This record gives sequence, C-alpha cells and structure tokens, in this order.
Amino acid sequence: MRKLIWAAASIAALTGALALTGPASAQSPIIIKFSHVVATDTPKGKAAEKFKELAEKYTAGKVKVEVYPNSTLYKDKEELEALQLGSVQMLAPSNSKFGPLGIREFEVFDLPYILPDLKTLRKVTEGPLGLKLLKLLDSKGITGLAYWDNGFKQMSANKKLVTPADYQGVKFRIQSSRVLQAQFKALGSLPQVMAFSEVYQALQTGVVDGQENTWSNIYTQKMHEVQKYITETDHGYIGYVVIVNKKFWDDLPADIRDQLAKAMKEATDFNNAQSQKENDDALAEIKKSGKSEIIKLTPEQDDAMRKAMEPVYKDAASRIGQPLIDEFQKEAKSTTN
Ligand code: LMR
Repeated sequence: MRKLIWAAASIAALTGALALTGPASAQSPIIIKFSHVVATDTPKGKAAEKFKELAEKYTAGKVKVEVYPNSTLYKDKEELEALQLGSVQMLAPSNSKFGPLGIREFEVFDLPYILPDLKTLRKVTEGPLGLKLLKLLDSKGITGLAYWDNGFKQMSANKKLVTPADYQGVKFRIQSSRVLQAQFKALGSLPQVMAFSEVYQALQTGVVDGQENTWSNIYTQKMHEVQKYITETDHGYIGYVVIVNKKFWDDLPADIRDQLAKAMKEATDFNNAQSQKENDDALAEIKKSGKSEIIKLTPEQDDAMRKAMEPVYKDAASRIGQPLIDEFQKEAKSTTN
C-alpha cells in the first residue's frame, strides 16, 4: 500500500514537474489548468472564463487556460493539495479554505458582520493588510494574485430562521473554518464540514437541515429547490483569493508572466464589477421560482442575530490574535484608500 501511495505521489509530482517546465517547443502552449468548485454562471465562474479569454489573447496563444468548473477536477480540500503538487496551476478558493492549510489569518474574513458592504471589503483587500495576507501564502508554495468578490451569505433551512433561538439544534453544512464552526455553535446549531459539491444532496436527503451561502451559489446549485426558507441575513462574506503554484509562476518567462498579470488585473476588475449584480439576479430568480420563502429580518431581529454571534470574535482572537482583528476593522473604517 505504501509503495502504491509513493508511486502515485511520484507520478503526480512528475506530472506537476512536466507542467512546470513550460513549452517544449514554440508550438506547444503553456497550459494553465484553472479548477474551481462553483458553476460557470456565478461571479467566480464568469471571471475565470474572462481570465481565460484575456490570457489567451494577450499571450497570442502561447498560454492556454483550461477552466474546470463545478468541482469537475477537484473538490474543496483536494484542490489546494493538487495546486501545491503542481497538478493544477490556478485556483480561486474562498478565504475560508486557507485556515486548514495553516494560514489562520484568512479566518478574519469569516467573522460575522465584520464587513458591512463590498466597498468596505475593498479597502481591506486593496490596502496594506490585503497585501500582507497574500504574502503569507508564499510559505506554502503558493502565490496570491488577486481577490475576487462573491458576496454576502444568507441562511437557508427547512424551518423558519428568524430569532437566534430558531437555530437551536439545526444541522448546518459549513466550509472547513473554525470561525464558521464557532458561529453556528454560538447559535446552538450543529455545524458539519462538507465539500461544496455535496451540499445539494445533503440538503435533499436531510443529512443536514440548512446551510449558509451567497444568492448566486444557492441559485446555481439549486439549493433553493430543497430548502423551504431562506433568511436574508447578510451575516458573512464569501470572497476568493486567486492563487497559482508559486514555482510555476516564478518559472514563467517574464513577458508571459506580465501578460498574465495584466489579464488577471482586468479579470479582477470584471469580477468585482459584476459580482453584486450576479447575486441580485440570482435572488430575483429564486423569488420568481417560488420554491423558497424569503424571510426579511426587522432591525430588532437583525440586532439579536448580531448579539448572538458576538462570542465568535473572542474565539477567533484566541487563534488569530486580537491585533489582526483590530487592524482589519481599522482599515475597513479608514477613509484613505
Ligand atoms: C462554499 O464552499 O460554500 C463556497 O466557498 C464555494 C465557493 O467557492 O463559492
């Protein structure tokens, strides 16, 4: 068995090494496999396609980008391992996925109600803290290229979720994040880590009762068809870091890397200009389908939810440190960038 694992690892490493060596001749393009877990018709899905279009155009065909949406290549956890091995070159995992990799600082994005809107988010990601967080990825053989928005999360379940008491004993699917675990524990719910690709079926079969996600993810995964209620909480944020295998990136010819960086910059602007609309449109479609009842909270009910989730900050501070949370909040409030 050990030999088998060793052989598999060697083949994977060899495949990675071959992919890293670049073009064998002028005719064979450099291949960038870009894997992600969501549908093409989402902010991330569309931005990945935009990057492909621009990257191939700017490099005049010297680079070919193969986009694999919907976990067709890898599921959540596997994709980061594959990137580190070099079996895939580019990913855009959510911020929540970096904690399990040992880069706990990204947990700060998961804190409930830490971001009131996308404009505030931008101050952080485009400021010194955003850059500092990207740099932390270097130590894992990863280069962080950009931040891509999705949007704010809503709570869905087969029961009405209005007050914090309604969350008691409800089983929720979560991403693998200690903050999200603490968030649902604070509400008395039972959080269960699960890959994104498995959520629909888990909701359908009752393995879990509910989940939290953005409108675009809920709609494109058809979660609204198996959830009676969705509460508009906007309690947390889902966004992505576009990452590449560091060695692959560093070994690219400088002119190609420059063109890819240019394509990434434009794909990022494209993503961040359309993510809000993608989510608004998905909400409109969910409403039109009539499959889920959308619940709006009163300001008092919203306050009660915020209060119930306050303990999550203390729990997070014990792992990522209060100074980081303070720095995040300070940059979010700044008026300079
Ligand atoms: C999730 O796992 O719920 C999301 O992070 C999926 C994604 O990439 O948007």
